[in-house]
Amino acid sequence: MSVGDSRPHESAHLHVSGQATYIDDIPEAAGTLHAALGLSPVAHGRLIAIDLDRLRAQPGVVAVLTAADIPGTNDCGPIVHDDPVLADGTLRYLGQPVFAVIASSRELARRAAALAKQVITCEPLPALLDARAAHAAQQYVVPPMVLARGDADAALATAPHRLRSSFSLGGQEQFYLEGQISYALPQEGRTLLLHCSTQHPSEMQQVVAHALHWSAHQVQVVCRRMGGGFGGKESQSAVFAVIAAVAAVQLQRPVKLRVDRDDDFLVTGRRHPFEFDWDVGFDDQGRILGVVVDLIANAGHSADLSPPVMTRALCHFDNAYWLPHVRMNGYCAKTNTQSNTAFRGFGGPQGALAVEVILDDIARHLGLDPLAVRRANFYGTTESNVTPYGQVVEDNVIHGLVDQLARSAEVDQRRAQITAFNAGSPVLKKGLALTPLKFGISFNVAHFNQAGALVHVYADGSVLVNHGGTEMGQGLNTKVAQVVAHELEVPFELVRVTATDTHKVANTSATAASTGSDLNGKAAQDAARQIKHRLAAFVQAHPQHAALPWPQLVAQAYMARVQLWSDGFYVTPGLHWDRVKLQGKPFFYFAYGAAVSEVLVDTLTGEHRLLRADLLHDAGRSLNPALDIGQIEGAFIQGMGWLTMEELVWHPSSGLLLTHAPSTYKIPTANDCPAVFNTALYDNGNVADSIHRSKAVGEPPLLLPFSVLLAIRDAVSAVGGHRVQPPLRAPATPEAVLDALDAVRAAAA
Ligand code: MTE
Ligand code: MOS
Repeated sequence: MSVGDSRPHESAHLHVSGQATYIDDIPEAAGTLHAALGLSPVAHGRLIAIDLDRLRAQPGVVAVLTAADIPGTNDCGPIVHDDPVLADGTLRYLGQPVFAVIASSRELARRAAALAKQVITCEPLPALLDARAAHAAQQYVVPPMVLARGDADAALATAPHRLRSSFSLGGQEQFYLEGQISYALPQEGRTLLLHCSTQHPSEMQQVVAHALHWSAHQVQVVCRRMGGGFGGKESQSAVFAVIAAVAAVQLQRPVKLRVDRDDDFLVTGRRHPFEFDWDVGFDDQGRILGVVVDLIANAGHSADLSPPVMTRALCHFDNAYWLPHVRMNGYCAKTNTQSNTAFRGFGGPQGALAVEVILDDIARHLGLDPLAVRRANFYGTTESNVTPYGQVVEDNVIHGLVDQLARSAEVDQRRAQITAFNAGSPVLKKGLALTPLKFGISFNVAHFNQAGALVHVYADGSVLVNHGGTEMGQGLNTKVAQVVAHELEVPFELVRVTATDTHKVANTSATAASTGSDLNGKAAQDAARQIKHRLAAFVQAHPQHAALPWPQLVAQAYMARVQLWSDGFYVTPGLHWDRVKLQGKPFFYFAYGAAVSEVLVDTLTGEHRLLRADLLHDAGRSLNPALDIGQIEGAFIQGMGWLTMEELVWHPSSGLLLTHAPSTYKIPTANDCPAVFNTALYDNGNVADSIHRSKAVGEPPLLLPFSVLLAIRDAVSAVGGHRVQPPLRAPATPEAVLDALDAVRAAAA
């Protein structure tokens, strides 16, 4: 019955045939104008003047907007209100939108906007580009955060072994295929329809209303689908939404703002780069006794989502491990760069990777098998099953999951083969790593964990569903339709899910934190159940209809004036969170997984190849195994890109992001999939009462490719006979690998 079926994405046939409508495919209304952004030419400066006359005189230009043209609030900060839509007084990073040109065509708008350097007069100020430098200067977007348990200093002082080290981890561009876009159409009587590629239609409705000094009910935000979001359209779709909306309302013409890929890179932020410094104490088995760690994130010029990203990083530093005494300091460094934001995993991957690197170091220091050290540190039962933030780990399956994977991937045999291979191969070195993951599901902030849905059963028996989640390729609409079909006991084909629309379901949360199907699936189920109960009551009162097929039953119920549509609502139970102390029960449950990767590194060029990957992931009782495996494999390759090839480089003096296009920023392709790629779902119903006992799967598998980075590190380490800690930074580009090899060779000599 529908739930649990491996069926294709409901729009797969439209995606592959080019028929799926993205925002730029919507037929343009007559009179549509196009916007383009004029960007700050400096990383930091005082804005003195903009030569608006020169811009207005450019061919096709209809209007030019600056901060002064925003009738309401010039701010799109989702938490802290420190994020101007258009620069006002201060230029905060190279690429910041300073003005918007509205012209008769996109080409003409872009030509005029490209004059930014000539028309902007500013006084450059010294720019701070580096997170460590900002940390040294104590420049933060929010005050430092501390998450601590026990007495880490005392544990360090008495531990039999102690290591201090650092690790540098790069950021990552979301690289959604459909870039940021908004299309605003003024409607009658001071109202607006906004098509926006966004994970958060309700927030776009709010920021647009604030910018216009309107009420929410004047703004309708619609999103049928995104060509990918990956967190990049959670808050950062707002700049584009507001500018298109303000221009459309001011000019009373439809206005579309679709940014070029280079501008998308220059304007918006991405995954936070992190720097880690740690001091860890451990016993002879490699069990961590105490650890103090500083996490320094480059937040960029404003807070954006940095506070919750850091919170999630702090809440994932434990990953799958019991840390009896721990103190974590989280710093969101303020720099003159793009404001960093959500990206699949939302800080969780950064936090968890740090502890994996630490365990790797501990194993090498003690000459122990890294898997044995990991196992020795796994969360246990009673006492050793409480996270540093106070949540009890009640559903731990990591021991069994890792055992199963180690067996199926033949880790022990392959480890022996690799040792033999490396002994006879001076230039090419192989490496292997197994890394586990535990990922908390729910928004850390309790009130976001709510959702609404509407289910309509039409008199012919067809079913239309609307819910607060957004579709970005992950298959949310397919899963919700499966849930509704299952509940109503009708074929999947009878159910259609329509565009997310703030006029249908109000006050929705972002589709984020992997909670889309958990929340909206439950809300849609609630709506479908109410209709089902009404139909059951109808049949009970009219037993002669009991045997009727669905369409006839529905038709009879309609004639009898039964309400055939319903709303539904859901809140995740049992969550609480103290934002100041960073304590509570932030997560409804945990998702688990593990991966084994084997790589081959060329020690002359620094290049590597992933030879084989085995993934075992816990999606609970999967709603749709085909979609879930797609999410797991996609997340694995995406995370591998982050850790091995996607490198962001800012010019050290001008602050220009040099890697702002696919020509200079390399993401993985299908060719980077390993020749042997085994992906399996771990058979495990959710202990929490989630939708059909499934588990969220969008983000957790992004942690699986830790195994690729650590396998490369293992191969590099082989060059020094596994006696030297390879100072390998991420991404492990050929340059980074060569640097690490040089250091290992020098230390081993
Ligand atoms: N999968 C695709 N194809 N495209 C995306 O943009 N975003 C990821 C993940 N999987 C994404 C994706 C992110 S960041 C999240 S939070 C979840 O999907 C959101 O959807 P869900 O909550 O329905 O899983
Ligand atoms: Mo996902 S980073 O929570 O949008």
